[in-house]
Amino acid sequence: MEKKAQLYEGKAKKVYATDDENLLIVSYKDDATAFNGQKRGTIEGKGVINNKMSNILMALLEENKIPTHFVKELSDRETLVKKVKIVPLEVIVRNVSAGSFSKKYGVEEGIVFDEPTIEFSYKNDELGDPLLNDYHALALKLVTKDELETIKKYAFRINEILKKVWSLCKITLVDFKLEFGKLSDGRIVLADEISPDTCRLWDSESGKKLDKDRFRRDLGGTEDAYCEVMARLMQNIKSAQEIKF
Ligand code: TMP
Repeated sequence: MEKKAQLYEGKAKKVYATDDENLLIVSYKDDATAFNGQKRGTIEGKGVINNKMSNILMALLEENKIPTHFVKELSDRETLVKKVKIVPLEVIVRNVSAGSFSKKYGVEEGIVFDEPTIEFSYKNDELGDPLLNDYHALALKLVTKDELETIKKYAFRINEILKKVWSLCKITLVDFKLEFGKLSDGRIVLADEISPDTCRLWDSESGKKLDKDRFRRDLGGTEDAYCEVMARLMQNIKSAQEIKF
């Protein structure tokens, strides 16, 4: 597969065209940003870990009937994916209070919910990714009703699968952000990435944060945390593949 022109550079990834109009190559960077790009830095080796982790998890989701953009890992940092039109929604699922949820509603972090929650942000950096509800998403014509139902169904199913995978690794899946895309035939698939950049992952016993919050909150040890999470996933992925979800 030949890598052609760079089409886009985001905060954590670059996207290239290929000689197949339906396929793209994504290349994961070590660059890290937070607070809508106000905080910038580098997490050494993050691109390699996020690429591999995202691919392992997306392949597992595919096996469990969640369609994704993943096609094939090409190298440490590069992956071949299906070309999609990104649905401009950040889809956030939460199992435990943390981050903006705790701040907004004035509750401590670490409260385990009886049921997971879902929320949407309008993916728009200029507006600061404002929170919106289903009706707003429909009014803005960001999605159709059917697409929204599909996205919610997939998001909760993904949560069930990922919660079990991380629990095998002795990690609590606190919350995470997903992005979906539309293939040329209109089908919705999971896109973007699943990594410690986009998930909150806490050690189940100590509660230690093993995700990008270490960078966001200047806790130190960010690289080690990413390595730790990756190592635990590699140790447990075989067992995860055997689970009937
Ligand atoms: P929040 O608590 O800051 O709203 O974040 C919820 C989850 O979404 C958390 O796992 C981190 C992830 N996230 C992103 O992936 N990208 C973002 O831009 C933000 C704000 C959060």
